[in-house]
Amino acid sequence: MLRVEQLSHSFTNGIETTAVLHQISFQVQKGEMIALLGSSGSGKSTLLNLMAGLMKPTEGDIFIAGQNIVKMNENQLAEFRRSHIGFIFQAYELIANLTVRENVELPLVFQSVHPAARKKKALALLEQVGIPEKAEMFTSQLSGGQQQRVSIARSLITEPSVIFADEPTGNLDTKTEEEIIMILQQLNKTMDTTFIVVTHEQEVAARTEKIVTLRDGYLVTEQDQKRKQTHAGGLFHEN
Ligand SMILES: Nc1ncnc2c1ncn2[C@@H]1O[C@H](COP(=O)(O)OP(=O)(O)O)[C@@H](O)[C@H]1O
Ligand SMILES: [Mg+2]
Repeated sequence: MLRVEQLSHSFTNGIETTAVLHQISFQVQKGEMIALLGSSGSGKSTLLNLMAGLMKPTEGDIFIAGQNIVKMNENQLAEFRRSHIGFIFQAYELIANLTVRENVELPLVFQSVHPAARKKKALALLEQVGIPEKAEMFTSQLSGGQQQRVSIARSLITEPSVIFADEPTGNLDTKTEEEIIMILQQLNKTMDTTFIVVTHEQEVAARTEKIVTLRDGYLVTEQDQKRKQTHAGGLFHEN
């Protein structure tokens, strides 16, 4: 579904060049939910932005649904992103003078989908993220957790192959964080959408099927949670 091969990235300001990611390779199966874990500055957002096609890597390849997005030109990439990729931001990035429902519908407005069809789909998604009663409110009237639910619904409305979330619970308290992670897990199961969730919190990462850890731009582990659990069970029996 998603495959990253020997991906490296450097930023340059014209005078000096800083290498931020070093030969990263890993893959994610369709329908998997993985956490991209690492401390601040380890390169998580850079890796996510590269995979979402928001910028081009210095070296390496990124295959999504069988297509190498690194080789695409601007127009091809824009079209690919519209139909295959969803994004959830830490700061929600909702539009204040649109209602909740209009925010969720917005990606379909750009695809010229009929208003009645858009509305129906948006309302169904608001139901799925648990805030159907907020549809006609403005986003400023919602709590942070509710705003993130709107942003999750918006990311799903185009039925993307993969959704990238950059610290989606970074601005939320622990209880709301748990609710949001639970919603993502449920959507992952019911819709078979692939989720890549960036976090610097071990507890959030522990709830996903798989963890990819970055340290100073290097991929340090690719742990399978199930394997880890089996291993822990083995230790328990030995004691
Ligand atoms: N646009 C940029 N220009 C120069 N350096 C950048 C840019 N974006 C990120 N960096 C640097 O790249 C490193 C990784 O940043 P980032 O990917 O945002 O890490 P994380 O999301 O894990 O906190 C940091 O040292 C950061 O300062
Ligand atoms: Mg970041």
